Amino acid sequence: MVISVVNQKGGVAKTTTSINLAAGLALEGYKVLLIDTDPQCNATQVFIHPEIEIGLDKSLYSVLMKFAPLTSVIRKTQFANLGFVPSHIRLSSADLELAQALDNRSARLKRAVDEIKAQYDYIVIDNPPSLGLLTINSFVASDKLIIPVSTAYFALTGLDQLQETIAMVQQTRLNPDLSILGVLCTFADHTLVSRDVEKQLRNFFGELVFKTTIPKNVALEEAHSRHTHVFAHARRSGGAAAYKVLIKEVLAR
Ligand SMILES: Nc1ncnc2c1ncn2[C@@H]1O[C@H](COP(=O)(O)OP(=O)(O)O)[C@@H](O)[C@H]1O
Ligand SMILES: [Mg+2]
Repeated sequence: MVISVVNQKGGVAKTTTSINLAAGLALEGYKVLLIDTDPQCNATQVFIHPEIEIGLDKSLYSVLMKFAPLTSVIRKTQFANLGFVPSHIRLSSADLELAQALDNRSARLKRAVDEIKAQYDYIVIDNPPSLGLLTINSFVASDKLIIPVSTAYFALTGLDQLQETIAMVQQTRLNPDLSILGVLCTFADHTLVSRDVEKQLRNFFGELVFKTTIPKNVALEEAHSRHTHVFAHARRSGGAAAYKVLIKEVLAR
């Protein structure tokens, strides 16, 4: 199953959710591949030390632009069952470059992913904070979407546009089978704003909202800075506990 973690808003915990979902599923014994499509390379910097330069031809760029096979850019990580595909800063021009391409510009990631899909139980795709062609490629390549929403004020603006884009991908038959696996409340705390936003999300999306919410928890950010996931960094933290329950919910859906 291919799961994309999407929201065109930045700072809503897409990368944090992608990494810990992928790592948690790998810890459960599933074979998992994490793909970073964000030109900002945040997930890539967690798995690969920022000082180590990643060649363009060893990144997702060459898959999307030069039709290199995905297998040529998959790396092992230090974690069992978890493979990784790095992004590259050059992908920041990919939306423009793809827009000029004549052939198959929305389905390039799908074409690459389909070739290796059978080798993995789960493929998790972290996405950029935009609804450009990179994200469209992820929508086309994916079976399911997880939409993290920060329970902060202004969190709900933009969700209309996100839903419209998903509907466009379904209706234009780019990927009619695409569906939302769940909406995930992140950065939850006991403030009035956080509880209000969570309530609004549950009113609006109903059962689609995961029962699990991810609390504000510093261990999640610390794990990134230590180039690892939260289960390895702080197994007993609130962040680890929440993502563990989320994974149970994801598996149950
Ligand atoms: N639940 C959380 N509690 C505290 N910090 C978090 C939490 N989730 C994410 N962060 C931190 O917030 C920042 C934004 O999260 P990130 O996953 O990078 O969002 P996005 O990928 O949507 O831009 C990062 O510095 C991350 O470490
Ligand atoms: Mg990110």
